[in-house]
Amino acid sequence: MTNTNSQVYLSGQFEPLSEAKISVLDRGFLFADGVYEVIPAYGGKLFRLQQHLDRLNNNLTAIRMNAVMSDAQWAEILKKLLAPQTLDDQAVYIQITRGAGANRDHQLPEQYTPTVFAMCQAIPVGSVDKTAQGVSAITLDDIRWDWCHIKSVSLLGNILLKQQAADQSCTEAILIRQGFTTEGSASNVFIVKNNQLITPPKSHHLLPGITRDLVLEISQSKGINCIEKEISEEELTRADEIWLTSSTREIMPVTKLNNRPVGDGNPGAIWQKASQYYAEFKQQLRGN
Ligand code: PDD
Repeated sequence: MTNTNSQVYLSGQFEPLSEAKISVLDRGFLFADGVYEVIPAYGGKLFRLQQHLDRLNNNLTAIRMNAVMSDAQWAEILKKLLAPQTLDDQAVYIQITRGAGANRDHQLPEQYTPTVFAMCQAIPVGSVDKTAQGVSAITLDDIRWDWCHIKSVSLLGNILLKQQAADQSCTEAILIRQGFTTEGSASNVFIVKNNQLITPPKSHHLLPGITRDLVLEISQSKGINCIEKEISEEELTRADEIWLTSSTREIMPVTKLNNRPVGDGNPGAIWQKASQYYAEFKQQLRGN
């Protein structure tokens, strides 16, 4: 939960959340014309900051916007937002839109002043431990647009799919496009088959997750056999293990898919290892 008194950053100023306001003509509000980032911080230390800022700037380029500030300036702002709450696990949310025009016009303005917003939210204590017992998921058709590699604030497809999963008491919807697994509605997907860890390759159909890359990196370095390749719906349903990864939820084992157990219905042996490596990685960050 976000405290309404907590300081947020809005286009050059720090102010209490309750006082932060934007124009109703903001293109983010009218057209979802903007991008965002979510960066976790453990013990006040931002996790993979450079990778998140690189993705943010790539996304701005993809929607024909310029970088709004240098990485050093971002680091300073985010440090200030984190400073009062250094102990808990936090997630910084950044949103950049193309700002407010003089009226509502679909065409991109030649000149604009971006709206730049950042706030900090607590990652609820124990949320990751809770999902470590295993979560349920369903498969759904990936109805979203073709540019899912962009972390766009236009999340209507994602949230409606997530809600369909929630309606069936499931944590996540795993999305299938033309017979192949893309990602979760708010996560990337991995499977384990015959001791091999498999995740779909990066493409326009999925977000290049920072956690995804880290999980691959750690797993490879610890000798887990990893491969990036397409996962058919059939392979997904026959997987020995299924995992979902995201910055705020880390590595979640899926123990039930479409009401059927995944593997033996418990978090798998390879997941146990990977989540242990991930925890060690986090611990190192806290300690430095
Ligand atoms: N979402 N795919 C989608 C569609 C996502 O929304 C997310 C994360 C991911 C995982 O990316 P990362 O590992 O970089 O967090 C994949 C964030 C956390 C959110 O929207 O809140």
